[in-house]
Amino acid sequence: MKSLRVGLCGVGNVGGVVLKNLISSSSLLELQGGVRFELIQVGARKGKSAVPFEGINVTKDLLDVARNREVDVLVEVIGGTDFAYELVTEAIKEGKHVVTANKALLATHGNELFSLAKENKVEIGFEASVAGGTPVIKALREGLVANKVKWFAGILNGTSNYILTEMESNKSSFNTALKKAQELGLAESDPSLDINGTDAAQKAIILAALAFHVPFDFSFVNFEGIEDIELEDIKYAKELGYSIKHIAHGKLNNSLVSINAFPTLVNNKTLLSQVGKEMNALEIYSESVGSTVYYGPGAGPEPTASAVIADLVDIAKGGWDLDINPNSDNKLEVSDPDTVSRYFRLQVKDETGVIAKISSVFADKKISIEALIQHEAKSKEDLESIPIVIVSGEISQSASDNLKEELENFPEVIPGIKNFRIHSNKE
Ligand SMILES: NC(=O)c1ccc[n+]([C@@H]2O[C@H](COP(=O)([O-])OP(=O)(O)OC[C@H]3O[C@@H](n4cnc5c(N)ncnc54)[C@H](OP(=O)(O)O)[C@@H]3O)[C@@H](O)[C@H]2O)c1
Repeated sequence: MKSLRVGLCGVGNVGGVVLKNLISSSSLLELQGGVRFELIQVGARKGKSAVPFEGINVTKDLLDVARNREVDVLVEVIGGTDFAYELVTEAIKEGKHVVTANKALLATHGNELFSLAKENKVEIGFEASVAGGTPVIKALREGLVANKVKWFAGILNGTSNYILTEMESNKSSFNTALKKAQELGLAESDPSLDINGTDAAQKAIILAALAFHVPFDFSFVNFEGIEDIELEDIKYAKELGYSIKHIAHGKLNNSLVSINAFPTLVNNKTLLSQVGKEMNALEIYSESVGSTVYYGPGAGPEPTASAVIADLVDIAKGGWDLDINPNSDNKLEVSDPDTVSRYFRLQVKDETGVIAKISSVFADKKISIEALIQHEAKSKEDLESIPIVIVSGEISQSASDNLKEELENFPEVIPGIKNFRIHSNKE
């Protein structure tokens, strides 16, 4: 039986469960994983009071764990990008493998860390950094290894997905849905990184590095969050046959790679549209196998700890022998050249000829109108601001920005046009 000597840094939500499972599930891990774990040391800045088990070597100085000669692998579950970077760097230089759940660390320092790991002939396991307990990293690095990935599209932030599901199912406003997510512990007291799209965008660059062999460079990810979605948009999307989801998307066009994460209309006939509540899902389209979809819990201490331990088992068996940045001709693109259909909601003053004016802008720019919805005004006040929803033909981000700017020049159009992409699962 293989054995692995573990040093655990951080005993918060995730680290606490990793610790509990290493201690209480050791016989299951021996039976199913074929690995015997030895917990050598725990780093907790609060010291022994943070570790509810007797007889464990606990240090308040986490760098002790990185330098401990008896440790084979350091588990980093402290989060953040500053001290976590120092800790992981030190561990690698000391010849230790690392397992991390920290997407922010990899999105910002992935290149340096992976090249340092290569230099020191150690591995970095990061299954827990994307989609929590759902093994999407393993699918990319193992199951799909014989395929050239063309694109991926994923719901990677459970908090945003929970909010959007609440808005759609219970007609809750954004703020009510966010409050409910916080009450259920699905959103942090400061939920900004989840709802402004940063979290999903960080996960997207990690997936792209693996799928397309491009550097971890977060500055190339275009993203927006879900804060601007209104109940009105959810209702119109439904009328058109779509749900609004926050979709992280990566695509290989010849050898150019674009990565983005935006609120997106997803056709109700697709699997991604059915992913509700805090669940995550990832669709990967690759050349030989076509489309495969992975679904499961994207966060939470138990699923995340499960992914951390799966990485430990793989490392014990030598299975993380992965060259994250092999020589590749693929390059990251700053702007997104992809053309997709788009949803526009304009609020307009109900004056004669306004629809004709709007349509003429689309016609002048040779952009087709695939659908248009205008409901009858129900009251006098409605006439001051009535919604017009238009689904355009396939256009690029810059064409969409120009169109929006021109439409907002009309005095009848109230500034603040809503504009969302429509997901396409074409190759
Ligand atoms: N929670 C999830 O569902 C989830 C899902 C996927 C990935 N992750 C990732 O997993 C990592 C850990 O998340 P978590 O939810 O377990 O966080 P957490 O509950 O806040 O735990 C973090 C732990 O690390 C310790 N810590 C933080 N900074 C430290 C420092 N500079 N020096 C020493 N100790 C430090 C904290 O100590 P104190 O107790 O003293 O503050 C705490 O024990 C993060 O990278 C997160 O993004 C979490």
